[in-house]
Amino acid sequence: MANITFSSPVMAKDVTVYAVAGDRGTILAVAKSHSIPIPFDCQDGECGSCLVQVEHFNPKAKAAVALTEKEKEVLRQLGKITKEEIVDAEVNDIPPRYRLACQCFVRNEDILVKFEGDKTKP
Ligand code: FES
Repeated sequence: MANITFSSPVMAKDVTVYAVAGDRGTILAVAKSHSIPIPFDCQDGECGSCLVQVEHFNPKAKAAVALTEKEKEVLRQLGKITKEEIVDAEVNDIPPRYRLACQCFVRNEDILVKFEGDKTKP
């Protein structure tokens, strides 16, 4: 079961969606299919527009964290991941705070996804 709650100052209220098995793409794909306005551009892990904060409701549920070199580099450039967090993700399976929504696949767990959004758009 994967309930994904999206929260942003650009949304009137938090929205929780249920991502069914077999229909789980990236956080960005799930957001788009539910009209959640996470900003995006390249959709390829390069621009950093889709930066989101991901909170795991059960942080003790360890699962391998798949961070690509590209995602690590962009998060580093944005100052959103530390060397320690990269080691924790790769060695200890502890998820970092920030992810790129277009690179982060939804798994079988409940998460809270926060994003700033573009306040200039409705
Ligand atoms: Fe460009 Fe995700 S949309 S990094």
